[in-house]
Amino acid sequence: MKDAQPRTIYLKDYQEPDYWIDQTDLTFHLGEDHTDVIAVLQVRLNKSKQHEHLPNLVLDGTDMQLLSVSIDNQSIDSNQYTVTTENLSLPVSKEQFVVTINTRIKPQENTSLEGLYRSNDMFCTQCEAEGFRKITYYLDRPDVMAKFSTTIIADPKKYPVMLSNGNLVADEHLADGLRKVKWEDPFKKPCYLFALVAGDLACVDDEFITQSGRKVALKLFTEAANVDKCAHALLSLKRSMKWDEDVYGREYDLDIFMIVAVDHFNMGAMENKGLNIFNSSCVLAKPETATDGTYQRIEAIVAHEYFHNWSGNRVTCRDWFQLSLKEGFTVFRDAEFSADMNSRPVKRIEDANFLRTMQFPEDAGPTSHPVRPASYIEISNFYTLTVYEKGAEVVRMIHNIVGKAGFRKGSDLYFSRHDGQAVTTEDFVKAMEEANNVDLTQFRRWYTQSGTPVVHVSDNYDAANKRYTLTVKQKCPPTPGQIEKAPFHIPFAVGLIDSLGNDMPLDEQGNTTLVLDIKEAEQTFTFNNINEQPLPSLARDFSAPIKIEYPYTRDQLMFLMSHDNDGFNRWDAGQKLAVDIIKELVEHQRAGMTLTLDERLVTAYKSLLTSASLDKAMLAKMLALPSEDYIAEECDVIYPLSIHVARDFVRRTLAVKLHKQFKACYAANNIEKVYQPTADDIAERSLKNICLSYLTLADEQGIELSWQQYQQANNMTDRFSALSILENAVSVKARDYAEQALASFYQQWQHDVQMIEQWLSVQAGGEYTDLEKIHQLMQHEAFDMKNPNKVRALIGVFANRNKVHFHRDDGAGYAFLADQVLVLNRLNPQMASRLLTPITRWKRYDETRGALMKEQLQRIMKEKDLSKDVYEIVSKSLQ
Ligand code: PHE
Ligand code: ZN
Repeated sequence: MKDAQPRTIYLKDYQEPDYWIDQTDLTFHLGEDHTDVIAVLQVRLNKSKQHEHLPNLVLDGTDMQLLSVSIDNQSIDSNQYTVTTENLSLPVSKEQFVVTINTRIKPQENTSLEGLYRSNDMFCTQCEAEGFRKITYYLDRPDVMAKFSTTIIADPKKYPVMLSNGNLVADEHLADGLRKVKWEDPFKKPCYLFALVAGDLACVDDEFITQSGRKVALKLFTEAANVDKCAHALLSLKRSMKWDEDVYGREYDLDIFMIVAVDHFNMGAMENKGLNIFNSSCVLAKPETATDGTYQRIEAIVAHEYFHNWSGNRVTCRDWFQLSLKEGFTVFRDAEFSADMNSRPVKRIEDANFLRTMQFPEDAGPTSHPVRPASYIEISNFYTLTVYEKGAEVVRMIHNIVGKAGFRKGSDLYFSRHDGQAVTTEDFVKAMEEANNVDLTQFRRWYTQSGTPVVHVSDNYDAANKRYTLTVKQKCPPTPGQIEKAPFHIPFAVGLIDSLGNDMPLDEQGNTTLVLDIKEAEQTFTFNNINEQPLPSLARDFSAPIKIEYPYTRDQLMFLMSHDNDGFNRWDAGQKLAVDIIKELVEHQRAGMTLTLDERLVTAYKSLLTSASLDKAMLAKMLALPSEDYIAEECDVIYPLSIHVARDFVRRTLAVKLHKQFKACYAANNIEKVYQPTADDIAERSLKNICLSYLTLADEQGIELSWQQYQQANNMTDRFSALSILENAVSVKARDYAEQALASFYQQWQHDVQMIEQWLSVQAGGEYTDLEKIHQLMQHEAFDMKNPNKVRALIGVFANRNKVHFHRDDGAGYAFLADQVLVLNRLNPQMASRLLTPITRWKRYDETRGALMKEQLQRIMKEKDLSKDVYEIVSKSLQ
């Protein structure tokens, strides 16, 4: 931490820059000890601002050595400029001039993985959000957009592949044995979209013909050993390119599109113009090493980064407060793409479940912030579930308000009006409004108010007048800095179900789902010609990111589980029933009572397993109990161990009582076939594997079955399911099988990076993996504190999923996490601050645990050299 109190940046202070940069020509001399960078910047005064005299040109730059500066080829003496640890300030005497800056950086020592760094033997960059300032002095802000050229000079034997954004325009061998290549990007862009890669990489080629008939070369670069893991990403890329043409009319704009896989990456992937850089775990797959989940994640992330070419690159963000402009919109776009490629209801269930389980706690915690934040200390801390996932829900609500065709009109207007510009969420909403002639004034509160609204619903049936009324009251709990909230505009999709389980017609046209516009704090909606007392199905398809309070009885939930025509609510009825039952068991467990399971859950699950009305994908989803995290989110005070015990009890009881049904279902879906990651096959495997998880809880036969599946599987989905089932099973036999499996797994796959990550994570989350074991694994040759994937796989999984050992009574789990955060604070501040999350929620836990977590936060706060990243999260958590 450089200053005593890191500075807070406010949206309200936004000002245009004093200068623009029109052209940026970069030259990199990549060396083994250091890299020299020459930046030639064509700078122009911003005349839309008032200037009394020409202000200094203040460029951002950190962690580099300034070798020389000149303006219009006249070298500037060091007593004429000022350099601090954060910027370079140059005197200016003209409205337009060329600055040439020569700097030296040390990528080999850069463990933050921002700016230019090394991953294994290659050079790569990560510039979003503010990494470019670690490469050279620059106006590192997204509203400064320039055309770029990149010249790379390096040893061609070590770095036969040398890449940057745009098109290759020159390639020559120099007299000294070095090679020089030059790339030119014809589109102007902010520097956060700059990228450079150099290394000894293999390339897998493909091509795509755009709707206007242009041929685009597609290239996926990776270390040679991985060329057999590229097919799925390339297929996903071609599908995304086609989908964006069909659904949004967006065509790709360069003749080449490149993806590079790197092993060291803080996030999933990055949409650099024409040169996407991917975390290798989000792009590489083959059936023997990747699970269905990985296949689907790759499809979604490849699409996400590709879609950014329009929603993010061609139209970018004015400032980082607008991050959700590109991220919320692009997540919405990739979710719709995945829904079109796979099962739409299942995708919706997964996304809504993820939002409720992960984003709702964020929005109720100490770092809660609006989709468009009003202030930050470190922007890296704002790549959050709120900005991404809630932001996508906000875009989805607009989509639902204006309809599919209206949304397309709005997006067409947005893209044409703002092409080549850096804009705001306000510009996006305005385009949607104007194209559709709707008023989204109140709706805009979703961008500025934080917190999850709670909608309380009560109803009344007036039999004499055949009239049914729904009374809704909305409130939003206070969040940091926002005590009072104004009412939201909530699109509330409602259906009414009769006693036979049929949807009732709700209007003259016979519509059975109506979207009510909730706008007031309290509002009543009346339905006429309702012939009998209905059961309401509320917020169908998760029509808004809200919580609903309606006093469903357990019998009513069972009824909805088998009858609701809305796939999401049908699934959710099962979740609600299970949560209700498990929460009661948590109370019983705490009171020391013997646990007994409400037979209704057994009946409900039995009818799921025996009814023919559900497809395999839905059935698999419905057979999964709510996660411990979701149950925790639904509890007033979190007792993690009691939740674990109660949920486990329910699983075991179901396993025993429905043994016959699970066995039959497993057998019916255990069909040998060549692995394909298609929606149908994925559904079948997930159904089979959830049955296996119950069978393994029931008896030794189930354990033998898992062991058999582990050994015989022809794909990683089945093998890994069996492994994690065994790793979490109680019996001595299962422990023995798990040990054998882990040993042979390591033996076979120790050279495969993706497999080692899975090997670490299955152990980190294992019910029998205690803190001592985690320490051992950290000493293992497979672990590396400088590799974020491994940190996430071992430490992240332990802290987030291994409830039993992380939350042990003496607080040793929390102290362990704090120790690791302090190590990472120096190596990689972004990783450090993200790893902290579990203990920032200390107020939600029982008093003893809460105090132990808080103690660790206070200990971190005392550290002398705290990064801005960690400082911001810890200080906010202690407020
Ligand atoms: N912009 C990237 C995405 O969402 C995420 C990212 C942010 C990657 C910051 C790296 C650093 O696609
Ligand atoms: Zn993104």
